[in-house]
Amino acid sequence: MKRVAAIFGTRPEAIKMMPVVAELDRSDQIDCQFIATAQHREMLDQVIGLFERPPNLDLNLMKPGQTLAELSARLLTHLDQALEQLDPDLVLVHGDTTTSAMAGLAAFYRQIPVGHVEAGLRTGDLSAPFPEEFNRILTGRLARWHYAPTTGARDNLVAEGTPLKNILVTGNTVIDALHQVSARLDRYEGFPQPLPAELGGILSDSSRLVLVTGHRRENFGQGFLGICQGLKRLAQSQPQVNIVYPVHLNPRVKEPVHELLGDISNVYLIPPLDYLPFVALMRRSDMVLTDSGGIQEEAPGLGKPVLVMREKTERPEALAAGTVRLVGTDPERIVNEVLQLLEDPRHYAQMSEASNPYGDGLASGRIRQHLESVLIDTE
Ligand code: UD1
Ligand code: UDP
Repeated sequence: MKRVAAIFGTRPEAIKMMPVVAELDRSDQIDCQFIATAQHREMLDQVIGLFERPPNLDLNLMKPGQTLAELSARLLTHLDQALEQLDPDLVLVHGDTTTSAMAGLAAFYRQIPVGHVEAGLRTGDLSAPFPEEFNRILTGRLARWHYAPTTGARDNLVAEGTPLKNILVTGNTVIDALHQVSARLDRYEGFPQPLPAELGGILSDSSRLVLVTGHRRENFGQGFLGICQGLKRLAQSQPQVNIVYPVHLNPRVKEPVHELLGDISNVYLIPPLDYLPFVALMRRSDMVLTDSGGIQEEAPGLGKPVLVMREKTERPEALAAGTVRLVGTDPERIVNEVLQLLEDPRHYAQMSEASNPYGDGLASGRIRQHLESVLIDTE
């Protein structure tokens, strides 16, 4: 058996890597060891609980209010020890987090080959998303195998000199996760739990529902102020519309959001939701306002218009398909874009036409097959 260490630690990495781990667990040629860095704690545990795949090793590294540098240093030190202990044949990382970049670097220092899932996304701007653009470039530079979700991501890698033979276009594993969860939801009557009690009434009536998430570092300060001002104006001018906002646990997000939006009756600030109720909420919503990466990939597949509160995106495919619009963080623009969707049925219909440029739900199987072939070939 060849040993693969899958290293991840935040909510989105876990959602996108659990289907890959499940595939590798089914392999009779690969022994998959899941190392949780726990860069996130509660939000990682929510995903582990849903997919029922506990880590083989949990480094438990999150500290409240962690800085990028101190988290990076902790990750590098502890991952080096974990790699020494585990001695894997390959390290598999995902995306663009501090965990991915430091796991890639720790593996590189030990000359262990790296496979990079969700490789090749770029904005071309190191300040947005910050620091993720750099994390993804660094991880890609260190990686031997690149699992690009789209042909556009593959082309970005080729343009940087990555050999085509080292790239596999797989689709995004988030669609694998979304399919699994959607199939579970189809068997539910009503909403899956746990759900905050205050949402009960508004989910079962026919009111318009705007779902919001936000957490990007480049939006800290001015950006979040603009977002919250926009949401406040929207809520006050449209009292019949309900705004549901599961607030990220980062204190740099939680504090301003609660301070600016805490006492508006049609704005529901709730803790982060488990993935199952969150997908149910996306399905129930009329539109999603977000700066999240993963939600830009999921919502188009669910036929939900997405207004992305960022200046740039490394996910241009849904933008091109017309289901996603970049609206930035200016309050007036946010209000106008939401109102247009609420009031213009033709515009709404155009944006909500389900399109899914991110995959067919079979990405994890492709990654497993590729890993089996390259790990056996390098015998
Ligand atoms: C991280 C990733 C970002 C990803 C996001 C997903 C980096 C640089 N950033 O950003 O790419 O989009 O996760 O959500 O890797 N916290 C908790 N409990 C949790 C999670 C977070 O209390 O379960 C709080 C802690 O105070 C923690 C802080 O949030 O210190 C920040 O977490 P961190 O992972 O450093 O950054 P994110 O903004 O979550
Ligand atoms: N998500 C969730 N619960 C929430 C908010 C988001 O399960 O309360 C899911 C969402 O469906 C997506 C992922 O978390 O799959 C996105 O995570 P996040 O926005 O934190 O990170 P990003 O994708 O921007 O890196």
